[in-house]
Parts: sequence; structure tokens; C-alpha cells
Amino acid sequence: MSERWVPLDVTDVDANPFAQFRRWFDEAAGLILEREAVTLATATSDGAPSARMVLLRHHDETSFGWYTNYESRKGQELEANPRAAILWYCEPLGRQIRVEGKVEKMTSAESDAYFATRARGSQLGAHASHQSQPLASRAILEDRVKALDLEFQGRDVPRPDDWGGYRLTPRRFEFWQHRVDRLHDRVIYLPAGSSWRVERQSP
Ligand SMILES: Cc1cc2nc3c(=O)[nH]c(=O)nc-3n(C[C@H](O)[C@H](O)[C@H](O)COP(=O)(O)O)c2cc1C
Repeated sequence: MSERWVPLDVTDVDANPFAQFRRWFDEAAGLILEREAVTLATATSDGAPSARMVLLRHHDETSFGWYTNYESRKGQELEANPRAAILWYCEPLGRQIRVEGKVEKMTSAESDAYFATRARGSQLGAHASHQSQPLASRAILEDRVKALDLEFQGRDVPRPDDWGGYRLTPRRFEFWQHRVDRLHDRVIYLPAGSSWRVERQSP
């Protein structure tokens, strides 16, 4: 049977799931517009889930990172229940990656360093927006930005105290490859001591 999808077997993947993530992420370059866009799922302490998109700004050999408002809904859920799931999808390659694990805040120095790289408009927006709080009108938000622009005129915009990064340290990965007739390939990584074991699961 010929098909355009690249099969995925447990013998094809890198023994290191972070390297496998990098491989698929790299292979998606130029194929999707917002390659860093992932769904981030969090939950309240009693298990009510919520999900939204964020931009995956870091991924290395130990963790995955994004930036947001610490007082937002996701921030409050992570405060109460510091676990999350990330979902990445690449339609042209028929690939989905799921990553689950524990979440902690980045250090102030790490958040400062990233905030400093942002455009001034985004920096002012981070100050102006009390993310996930009710807002009576858009005009209020825009007026806040104007006032902050004056306040910080001629100097760098400091990082707001309630804005910064989170890092997720994974305990589980799944690499899913679309195949014909719904016979998709699924390769799961689970912790095994200080390393990982790989298993195939039914599609
Ligand atoms: C493609 C995309 C990327 C986004 N990236 C971020 C992000 O990196 N950080 C962020 O706080 N919100 C981001 N958002 C907005 C969130 O989806 C969400 O509206 C916001 O964070 C508030 O979510 P919450 O109320 O669940 O905390 C993004 C939205 C989209 C559609």
C-alpha cells in the first residue's frame, strides 16, 4: 500500500524524546505559519480543565517554556495545580505531539531577559492588560497603553511583576503520525529510571 505519510515505528524515533521533538519541529519549518503555536491545557485543583493557545518560546533538552500573565486564568490554575499538557499539530505532515508534565515559573532573570527582547508595544500591552479579568471596553485598554507610553517615555519598559515565563518538565510524550485507513502510528515515551522507555499504542 502506498501512502504519502512517513511511517513512525518505535525503532525510528530518537531514544531521547527532546531530540525527537526537535526533529519533528525542525521538519515542520516552512510548512506551517505559526510553528510555535501549541495548545496549553491546565486544570483547577479539583480537575476542571481549560485550554488555550500559547507560543512555545523555548524547548531544549529538559523542558518547554512559554510566557504569560501569572494572574491570568491559566496562571491561577497553574498556581493551584502545577501540571499541564501541551499539544502541537502539524497538518501538512499529519503529525501531533503531546507533552505532559510538571510546571514551574521561570526565574525573574529568565523572564526579564525574554521581556527585554519584546517590541515596546508588546511590553506596554503586557502592563496594560490584566489578562483574564473583565474589561468594560477596549477604549479603557487603549487609554492605559497611552498613559503607560508617557510614563515610560525615554526609558526601558520594566517587566511587570505579574508577567513571566513557565517551564514544563515532561513526564510523558506522545508522537502521533497520521496513516491511511485510521491505522495511525503512536509512539509514547514514559519515564524509566533516569531514562525513557518507548512503547507503541493502538491508534
Ligand atoms: C496563536 C496564539 C498564540 C498565543 N500565544 C500566547 C502566549 O504566548 N501567551 C499568552 O499569554 N497568551 C497567548 N495567546 C492568547 C491565549 O490563547 C489566551 O487568550 C490568553 O493567554 C488568556 O488565557 P487564559 O484566560 O486561559 O489565561 C495566544 C493565542 C493564540 C491564538
